[in-house]
Parts: sequence; structure tokens; C-alpha cells
Amino acid sequence: MCGIIGCAGRGGATLDTLVHGLSKLEYRGYDSAGVALSGSEVRVEKRAGELDALRAALDDADEDLTGSVGVGHTRWSTHGPPTDENAHPHRDCTGEVAVVHNGIIENYQELRDRLTDAGHEFESDTDTEVVPHLIEERLMAGDDPETAIRAAVDQLDGSYAIAVVVAGVDRVFAARNDSPLVLGIADDAHFLASDVPAFREFTDRVVYLEDGEFAVIDADGWRVTDGAGALVDKRVHAVDWDPEETGKSGYEHYMLKEIHEQPRALRQCLRGRVNEMEGRVSLDVDFDPERVQFVACGTSYHAALCGAHLLQRSGIPAQAFLASEYATSPPPIGEDLVVGVTQSGETADTLSALREARRRGARTLAVTNVVGSTVSRECDQTLYVRAGPEIGVAATKTFAAQVVALTMLALTTDGEQRDAIAALRDLPGNVQAVLDSSTAREVAEEYVDSEAFFFIGRGLCYPVALEGALKFKEITYEHAEGFAAGELKHGPLALVTEDTPVFAVVTGDGELARKTIGNVKEVEARDAPVIAVTDGQSDVERYADHVLRIPTSEPRTAAVLANVQLQLVAYHTAAMLGRSIDKPRNLAKSVTVE
Ligand code: F6R
Repeated sequence: MCGIIGCAGRGGATLDTLVHGLSKLEYRGYDSAGVALSGSEVRVEKRAGELDALRAALDDADEDLTGSVGVGHTRWSTHGPPTDENAHPHRDCTGEVAVVHNGIIENYQELRDRLTDAGHEFESDTDTEVVPHLIEERLMAGDDPETAIRAAVDQLDGSYAIAVVVAGVDRVFAARNDSPLVLGIADDAHFLASDVPAFREFTDRVVYLEDGEFAVIDADGWRVTDGAGALVDKRVHAVDWDPEETGKSGYEHYMLKEIHEQPRALRQCLRGRVNEMEGRVSLDVDFDPERVQFVACGTSYHAALCGAHLLQRSGIPAQAFLASEYATSPPPIGEDLVVGVTQSGETADTLSALREARRRGARTLAVTNVVGSTVSRECDQTLYVRAGPEIGVAATKTFAAQVVALTMLALTTDGEQRDAIAALRDLPGNVQAVLDSSTAREVAEEYVDSEAFFFIGRGLCYPVALEGALKFKEITYEHAEGFAAGELKHGPLALVTEDTPVFAVVTGDGELARKTIGNVKEVEARDAPVIAVTDGQSDVERYADHVLRIPTSEPRTAAVLANVQLQLVAYHTAAMLGRSIDKPRNLAKSVTVE
């Protein structure tokens, strides 16, 4: 987590460029922020709290922060609480070196003890603060800045993307290991950042750094070298999305905008991949596995559960694992393909599960939204979900696109699939119909003051129930739980009262719907209000206090439609409670620690 940025070549606009970049990186953490500008000296301003606290401090400052190059940071705390002292950038004893860091330095205590014995004084609780002191030590020994930074980085164990400025040097230095870092190339300026939106306004040309690489930028150029100092011939990529895609476009929250962007995201996801005439799906990946293991976290895990369900249905044994638990009892790999589902492509738990699988000889496939992300570079193959940039911390359109990408993946193994393909074709329009007609706000109004919220479903509707509950708790801070509908009677039913609305996801009119309706009757008998999310094919509506209708569609696409209704219920409830919807407390979008 945490977002870092560095820029060179923006002249008098350096400070504004950094602060603007940080506003685009806030999804990576938002409990403190800071900047350092370097000219003849290094000047730092940093504050606990969201970026506005830093903006206010900069406005109140006696003189403007100036400098030809600079770095900035937005923090998600790992070592030490969010205070001004723990905010980045961190400096050395001379105040001539400033460092921003994303990641965790595992051997920081040992380094800090050694530096303290050597007379260095520390001001924060962070792991990061050892880095400027290590650089200072080498500068004092006579190294030039680049050599000093390399020597400092050589002593670090753990994950890091760091950016460094040094007084009197018109350059930004950076290094990467296990945390994302991308370089941006404009005609008269250069950038380094954790993610492209930080500088997308200025350029669409980017270079993705690999682990062990160093970068140096100044106003006139850029250079990437390997650990031994040899120049690396890097490919320059063109980013294919507009800067406006990372704005709110008139919506009150990014989350609402991204919920409404789902029809477009799904069109992008499907484009060129489904051939209706031939009744076939063709993806740019080889996919013919004996068995599949999915690894993923949070919302992506729910998409992976959908993926496993769909593959099993196509006759391929498949199982979804929580990535953070995968290594605790790794399943036999054999000829299995291991699929990492991660919208950001940077989730440490997922990367680590994939590395474990690779170490044990597995072939790997990444399903991700972010081009050039770590997962895409580490896996044998990548299937992009093409949802476009997602800024709201709560994943919405990326979940929909993940489920559709996994649906297509399952269809590639399944011969002719005209019904499913027609349903995929209709899906963006059907999502739009849900968005246009949803009564989720009324449901939110009626139940906002309830004690707890439960979500139930079977088959593909079970991951939808889990996802509905996760989204709800994440942004409303209310108690919400998702259950397999059949499990209610094995324990959770004890929680059900007249003050605990139950959202029942019921699609189709087959055996699964019939059984879930049985469970609905059980909660109804305990006086719990029932909200049916349904396509109207079964008679669940007879037992429901409210109905959130979705269009009738093929069972494989109904999950995405039902989920849109639950996203809207969560959103409207959180809005009524006045929650911080795009930046829920304690969370960050890209979780780069295990
Ligand atoms: C919830 C949410 C998280 C992420 C999880 C994995 O709305 O966004 O649960 O799904 O942290 O993130 P990715 O998909 O980036 O691996």
C-alpha cells in the first residue's frame, strides 16, 4: 500500500504536480501525506490525515515550497500510527536526503539499532526512516548520490518502491523490489509513481520497472539500470485510457461512477472475444487445463468462487483458495493450472500464493485489470479484464469484469455455447436496465437503522451473497454477513430477528431457487424482513417484503446482475450514514503487505 510519486522538469509547477499526483494515488492509502522539494536544500511538508490536511498546511506555510524536483507520498500505516512524524517523506540527520517508500523493510530494526549505535537519531516509528540514514552514511563516506542510494538499497530486506531526492541534485532516484513502480515520459518532464494515474495527465508513455531495477529521472531524460549498474533496454508502453477516466464525471463518489460504468466496462471486457456467428469464445491465452486452482483475496476471491463454479459446470475440476491461506496447507499441484485473480495485480497475498505455486512447478495465469502489474509480469500468461481504472476502494466494475472474464474462460473449454454467448452479448444492456430501474435506494432508506444485514444464496448466487455482504460492511461499517443459504439453519439462524433484514439472491426457477425459497420461509417465520434479489422466474416474491428485480437472463450471467443491485444497496446505505464511501476507514485499494 501507500502511493509514491516523484517528478522532474515541472519547474515552478513541481509542488502542484506532486499534490495532484497524490490525489490520484489516495486510493492506495490516505492516513497521512507529504511532499519534499529539492533545490539547493530539501524542504519537506507532511501531515497526518487525508490529503486536504497537507493542502491546508501548504496554504498556511509562510513561504511556498519550491524546488526543481520533488517526491510525494500518501500513506497506509504499517509501522507506527498516522502522525505527522510518521508521515513520509523521511529525512536523514543532515536534512539533505528525503525518501518516500511503499512496502515493508523487514530488517529495519536491526539497521536502526546499528545506525543508532553509530549516532543517528530517529524521529518516527517507521521502517522507512532507516533509508535516508543509510544513504547519509554512504554520502558521508564519499559516495556520489547514486552510488550511495544503491549501497543503501543493497542493505534492505523486504519490499520497497522508494524515491529519493538529495539537496543540490536535480534528479529523482528510485528503486523497486516487490512494490510497483512505473516511470512516465513526457516531452519536457519525467515522473516516477506507484501507478499511472499519478501522472497520466502529462503523458501516456510509460515504462514499468522490474524488481531489482533502479531509475533516475531529471528534466531532460531518464535511465533504468539493473542491480549491477548496467543499462537496461526498457520498452516504452502507451497507456490506452484517458485522464478523464480517473475523474468523478459529476458523480458524488467514484464508487457510484464506477457502478454506473459497468455496462461500458463489460463491453470492453467482451470486445473481440466472443464470436456470436460461430458460437465461440476466443481469448488470447492457452487454456486447456486438467484442473484449476484459483487464488485470490476479498472481492476477487468471490469472483474466483464464481470462476470455480463455472469451470466445474464445464466439467473441469476447479477450486478457489483464499490466497492468504494457500501456503498454510498447499494442495497438491500435479498438472493443475493456478489462476491468480487480482484487479490491482499487486496484492501481496495473491502474489505470494502464486509464487508458492510456481515454486512447486505450477503453470500460472493472471486475471487482472492492470496492464504491466506485477502479477502480469510474473505469471506465464495474463487475461486482462479491461474494466478501466477503478479508484473507489470498494471494487465494483472490476468484480463484474472479472466474473465475465472467468465466464468466457470457462466457455472456451465448452464447445458451442450459443445461449451463454447471447447472454454475454446482452449483459451490458441488462446491467444498464438494472441501473435505470433499481429501487435499491428505497430499500436502503427502509432498513438503514437495522441491527445487522444478512445475505444468502446458493450456487453462483452464493458468491454474490458473500460479495454483497463484503461491500455492505466495507462501506457502511455495519455488521453484514453472507451465508450459503443452506447453512443458515446450521447456526446463523440464531442471529436472525425482526431487526436483521435478509437479502435473498434467487435466480431461475429450478432446484436451487426452490431450496433457497425454503430458507427464505425459515427467516420469514422468524419475522426477519426479506429482500429478494430475483429475476422473477420463481415465486420468491410471495415471501419477500421488497423485491430488487433483475432482467431474466442465462444463469451464468445472472450473478453479475444481482450483484449490481447489492452494490447499489450498499452505496445508498453508506451515503445515508454519511460514510467515507470512496476511502473507507482502515482500508486501501492495493494491499501490498501480507
Ligand atoms: C473489496 C476489495 C478487496 C479486494 C482485495 C483484493 O471491495 O476491493 O476485498 O478485492 O483486497 O484486491 P485485488 O483484487 O487487487 O487483488
